[in-house]
Amino acid sequence: MLDRDAVHTLRAGAQRDYTDPAVLAREQEALFDRDWVMVTRAGAAPNPGDYVAAKLGERPIAVVRQKDGTLRAFANFCLHRYVKLLEGSGNARRIVCPYHAWTYDISGQLIGVADREGFCNVDTRDMALEELACDVWEGFVFVSRRLDLAPVSQRLSKLSDYLAHYAVGSYEDRHFVETEIWEGNWKAVVENFIESYHTTYSHKGSIGPTNPTKLAEPGHAHEGFSIHSNSYAPEHLPEVHNAAIDADERRQFHVVSLYPNGVAAIDPNFMWWMAMEPLGPGRTNARWGVSFSPAAMAGMADPEKFVADIVRVLEIATEEDQEMVRRVQEGAAFGSDRRGYLHDWLEIYVDEFRRYVDGMIGRA
Ligand code: FES
Ligand SMILES: [Fe+2]
Repeated sequence: MLDRDAVHTLRAGAQRDYTDPAVLAREQEALFDRDWVMVTRAGAAPNPGDYVAAKLGERPIAVVRQKDGTLRAFANFCLHRYVKLLEGSGNARRIVCPYHAWTYDISGQLIGVADREGFCNVDTRDMALEELACDVWEGFVFVSRRLDLAPVSQRLSKLSDYLAHYAVGSYEDRHFVETEIWEGNWKAVVENFIESYHTTYSHKGSIGPTNPTKLAEPGHAHEGFSIHSNSYAPEHLPEVHNAAIDADERRQFHVVSLYPNGVAAIDPNFMWWMAMEPLGPGRTNARWGVSFSPAAMAGMADPEKFVADIVRVLEIATEEDQEMVRRVQEGAAFGSDRRGYLHDWLEIYVDEFRRYVDGMIGRA
């Protein structure tokens, strides 16, 4: 009889990796405090003063569009008594703390202190919000507390090659969900998105019929990402208006893992992305959205209906995924030492993602 453990077999993560606060604490420190973290899309903050509040692990941050068009990221707390300054998303000409009205400009500089005479020994002239590293790759916004990391474009340069025909950076960011709480570990949300094994079985009401498990194709894994295709069934091939897309790409729906916490499904017509923020071992905010190819929008007879139809399908797919992730979390709560098994190639990207996480938290 074949001894499954003696041959090279991919194993699922240990149950405790989904539930143990100590594991999450290591991930917070090694990944969310030290790596590039995907936060949102650039289209979430298109105009000067537009902002998106997010989290790097537990740390509140905000990404703010500057007057010169660049995006900058700041620690999102007031320098007086730490009130979180910005919430959700919106536009601010100035950032005014709601507690005692200290005021910052959109570059983070402190420009106003209420009842200033009471702070005669404090030199507030050079005070500014702590700035973090912020980088935009193909329209995805990444933030890091480390200022010495190589740019995101470097780790994803090979992915840029794979996706050259799509011009994902030009996709119009049309749909945003800022807060969606998933009752599962952040790794379970990532793993769910990046394996096409479950598509036929748990996406019966959405993408299962159009992108069945049987049509998933092996792809590539690199140091900072993985990519594979969960292709369209021939009877569901989409119309494609981007002339740069080649014959193979016309049937492909690429599934991408952007380590550590970002994922995207990229299609000639649209792109579905998610950025995970762990809120606890069994709770995750999945910020997500859908962006659309300008060529698709120009070519569709009714682009608004196209947007609405795609968003509706992806909302259903997201609900289906949410339920499975919740049930992974509930099952893993048993705390068994028995390890699951991964499909040799349909789930190889789950294994690649885990290797990245394990490497970063020092247990590779
Ligand atoms: S905490 Fe912000 S002004 Fe007091
Ligand atoms: Fe799914």
